[in-house]
Amino acid sequence: MRVIALGNPSYKDFINQQGFGITLDPSDAVAIISDSSSIQNIPVTDMPLAIILTGSISDWPAKQKHPDAFFVSSVEEIKEWLQGLKPIEQPIVYTDRVFILTHSNKGGVGKTSTAIALAEALSRKVKTVLCDFDYTAPDIGTFYNLKPQNYFESQVQPARITDNLYVLPAPKNIIPTSLKENQVYNVVQSLSGYQVIIGDTSPAPWDKPYLHKLFANCDLVYSVVDQSLFSVDETKRFAPTLLAMGVNPGDIKIIVNRYSPRQTSVKAIEQAFCAGFKRNVSTLPKVVALIPEDWEGQLKATYQGKVLNKDIWEDVCKDIYKRLGVEYSEPEPPPKRLLDIFKRKKASVF
Ligand SMILES: Nc1ncnc2c1ncn2[C@@H]1O[C@H](COP(=O)(O)OP(=O)(O)OP(=O)(O)O)[C@@H](O)[C@H]1O
Ligand SMILES: [Mg+2]
Repeated sequence: MRVIALGNPSYKDFINQQGFGITLDPSDAVAIISDSSSIQNIPVTDMPLAIILTGSISDWPAKQKHPDAFFVSSVEEIKEWLQGLKPIEQPIVYTDRVFILTHSNKGGVGKTSTAIALAEALSRKVKTVLCDFDYTAPDIGTFYNLKPQNYFESQVQPARITDNLYVLPAPKNIIPTSLKENQVYNVVQSLSGYQVIIGDTSPAPWDKPYLHKLFANCDLVYSVVDQSLFSVDETKRFAPTLLAMGVNPGDIKIIVNRYSPRQTSVKAIEQAFCAGFKRNVSTLPKVVALIPEDWEGQLKATYQGKVLNKDIWEDVCKDIYKRLGVEYSEPEPPPKRLLDIFKRKKASVF
């Protein structure tokens, strides 16, 4: 974590001693520390600001211009304030079931691909059921070549794909807007014996009240964005809808799909996504995976019912294994060959 330090150079040593780095880049900083005589260099941003008063005439304009700042008379007094900026480590709460939802306000960004890839990866270790709750455009039945399941009229019975992977395709001939939110949530409640339930959802779930109770009761939301201007810009408005549906910001993970290192930076994506959350939220959503753009590979894989980037998804699963108390050991890395050195570094997980 880095801080912008303006004024007396000795502040930098003090800030470093508190475990923070120094930066001049506002997009890379979590706070600004300035003395009252350097306030003209404070960038325009809403990040936390501490002003060290110098006992001179400059204290007066500093208080006028930044009334919300934290004012102190020596840098040592900001010690506690600085420590308060560090995210609180959340204790792991073990559970015997993790309920996951995909999310995005935009269509076609990769929610269903994410849901399938996660389910496939998780099912190598834990009993997983993948449910299609995207009633407006269900795709999961197509991927697994399964018939729709009219579970609002009869029993909820996921189809067995492998010993550990079960799939519940969406029902057909339903009018999603006529569904009550309890109806869909009752489907989840009736799924017993699974360690992970993954629900794929429709774009803009906020507009679909039948999905709200799912979001209010899920353990993790994987929100999928791509690097297009529209996708990144839309994420700025995600926070109020996710919060209104009862999602805890710490349970939201960002997946960047169709990632290219030449496009919008991960930092900028996180900043846009977190714009609507209050800065004092203990854990803000973070990018957990970068899935490279691979149109042809993805297309072929979809037709063949296969999943790409298995190693990246395996990494994402670690957080879920941790919650379930499932042991995870890193797979042995393949032996290095001379040619590998020249290969391009692939997108990976944070
Ligand atoms: N990383 C990728 N590279 C290239 N193509 C991709 C990638 N991820 C997904 N796709 C393709 O993009 C299309 C949309 O993906 P997907 O169906 O997963 O999105 P979605 O968010 O679920 O869409 P919808 O909102 O319609 O439900 C699919 O054809 C998929 O194969
Ligand atoms: Mg989809």
